[in-house]
Amino acid sequence: MNTMIDLTELTQKQTRPINCHEHGQQLETGYMGRWFGCPVCADIASKKQQEAEKLEQQREFFAAMNLPELFKNSGLAGYKITDARQQPVIARLREYVEEIKTGSSKNLILAGATGTGKTHLACAILRNIAHFNIRCRYVFSADFSAQIRASWDAKTRTKFESEVIDYFGSVPVLLIDDFGVNDLLKSDIWSALFDQRYRENKPTIITTNLDEVELVKMIGDRAADRVLPKSLWANCVWGSYRRVSSSMERI
Ligand SMILES: Nc1ncnc2c1ncn2[C@@H]1O[C@H](COP(=O)(O)OP(=O)(O)O)[C@@H](O)[C@H]1O
Ligand SMILES: [Mg+2]
Ligand SMILES: [Zn+2]
Repeated sequence: MNTMIDLTELTQKQTRPINCHEHGQQLETGYMGRWFGCPVCADIASKKQQEAEKLEQQREFFAAMNLPELFKNSGLAGYKITDARQQPVIARLREYVEEIKTGSSKNLILAGATGTGKTHLACAILRNIAHFNIRCRYVFSADFSAQIRASWDAKTRTKFESEVIDYFGSVPVLLIDDFGVNDLLKSDIWSALFDQRYRENKPTIITTNLDEVELVKMIGDRAADRVLPKSLWANCVWGSYRRVSSSMERI
């Protein structure tokens, strides 16, 4: 008896005409005995699925970004121009977002007095970047320092120092907010962080009240050599928005 079975029909792609109630006459594909229905319907379903996955990832990224409540909805469009010197800075920051989206690893330093909107702008930039499904992370500079200090003590440690540095060192886009405030860290910690980000070619955004000389003193020459040459330094030289928009009540 001949037990050979002709598998050709089973293992080759086949097609047959079908009538989709949405898309009319179509060619349905079959493989290994399975038929896949209207190709146009399948295409639409697959695009919907991709879109849903992208949105889900975006939601995850936004949650993991760790933005402070006050700045969760900060946008570049919501930044009011109250001083003529803001216009060119905002225009350049919009370009910066585009550069990061297309793979630049340029750092950004927003420097200036308190209330000039540095955190607002930095968070708006982060949200813009995250919108393109690039993983971003906000950290308050003092929180980073606290995590490092906690790592030194076995009683408070949840991570080793090297793990904290490695975590923040490898985030695709990191925002360090209010750099230099109450900072007790030695520059070698900052150096290690910036060194890793430099090696991994990842951009860092910093907001700070410090000027360039103070910043260099804080992070040390080595880290400054990594950060500053490939950075955009934006000086926020205008007055505090808190004063402009104050709702303080006086009696
Ligand atoms: N030009 C602006 N337009 C709208 N809101 C602003 C502007 N500048 C600052 N703000 C708001 O004022 C508050 C203080 O700004 P913030 O970003 O914290 O300043 P900084 O980080 O420079 O101290 C925030 O609520 C911020 O959203
Ligand atoms: Mg701030
Ligand atoms: Zn169809």
